[in-house]
Amino acid sequence: MIFTSLSPNTQRDDFLLALKTILKPGEYFEGEYIGKVKKWFKDFFGVFHVSVYESARSGLYFVLKELGIKEGDEVLLQAFTCVAAVNPVKWTGARPVFVDINPKDFNMDIDDLENKVNEKTKAIIVQHTFGYPAKVNEIKEIVGRKGIYIIEDCAHTIGTEYMGKKLGLWGDAGVFSLGRDKAVSASFGGVVITNRKFGKNLEEKEKFLSFPQKKWVKKQILYTIVAFLTRTLYEVLFIGKLVHYIATRWNLVEKATTEEEKKEGEMPDNARSKLPNAFARLAFNQLRKIGILNKKRRDLSHLYVKRLSKIGLEEVKLPEWKIGEHFYPLRFPLLVKRRDELLKFAQERGMLLGDWYDVPIAPKQVDQVKTGYKQGSCVYAEKVCESILNLPLHSDLTEEDALKVIAVIRDFYL
Ligand SMILES: Cc1ncc(COP(=O)(O)O)c(C=O)c1O
Repeated sequence: MIFTSLSPNTQRDDFLLALKTILKPGEYFEGEYIGKVKKWFKDFFGVFHVSVYESARSGLYFVLKELGIKEGDEVLLQAFTCVAAVNPVKWTGARPVFVDINPKDFNMDIDDLENKVNEKTKAIIVQHTFGYPAKVNEIKEIVGRKGIYIIEDCAHTIGTEYMGKKLGLWGDAGVFSLGRDKAVSASFGGVVITNRKFGKNLEEKEKFLSFPQKKWVKKQILYTIVAFLTRTLYEVLFIGKLVHYIATRWNLVEKATTEEEKKEGEMPDNARSKLPNAFARLAFNQLRKIGILNKKRRDLSHLYVKRLSKIGLEEVKLPEWKIGEHFYPLRFPLLVKRRDELLKFAQERGMLLGDWYDVPIAPKQVDQVKTGYKQGSCVYAEKVCESILNLPLHSDLTEEDALKVIAVIRDFYL
């Protein structure tokens, strides 16, 4: 079975480490790996300030708060995103204002951005969707002069460069996710990098935060273990399937976003916490391998482009991406006709492809109205949601697997 989700970057060594980690509850919270992760980000990005949290959504929240964002303010962000990127704005009391996307690269549309900026706009969250760089230089030109803060949402990539500069270094702060389906799959985690002075305050305040609950931390580590077993033993006497069934049926693992967060935009109990050592340990193991993981992503992207362009299916539209030397996307997006049928067809043939994002503020259970999104306000985003398909690009995917994915897409339309 080929998976796009389910902690896709967890490899055998990460799995063994997760087993070791879960058995040492005494090391869940304090420990050497928190400092190691911080140092890794400081060195990799060459920044002065790094603060770490239990999730990127908390990272976004703390940055907004530190920048003084409050009730009555507006924060711009693109539609075609995840509710976890929107809720932090709401938690500050500010109003999220949604900007439409460019359907060629799924990032913020510059013309629509100009329409949405006004005197209440205090910050903009620039999302690099699927890891493809948004035109952050043009965005800077538009909003920079107005004193609007720029926060880069780098949840989908660690290391991609735009015009020779790493994403995360273009604005006032860069926020990264260490979540299960992100560039490194370490259960949960969020990192804020900045060279601005307010980064020092973030670092200071982080020291006084509490850790998430022990039970929650354990469940998240267990997710890494369950996800790995599910993926690797899926076809072995249905063991993987059984493991997944038992874990979810008995609530041994939890979703990445709680029901209340999705439906009501509520802040989860464990938000606004420090990064536990256990998550940092899992993250650090993958960060050390980031060069290999990223090379894989870029090479597989090239392969998808080359092969799919060659087949030239008129039902399949490739993104207008320039795949440069330092471009490491999380997933490879396509716009396809009859997407839901294709997803089913692929599943029957042993592959679970992705549908990020199938609604403007994903996932489907999200009450769009409660997020502040108005139906019809971002027409390109809504259109893209109907036909978006994501192909896997993770570390254990072989070239042969990618060719199988392409073959299934071809078979579906031919
Ligand atoms: C674009 C984007 N930003 C932010 C987040 C939040 O990341 P985390 O799950 O670490 O809070 C997510 C993930 O859900 C995301 O997809």
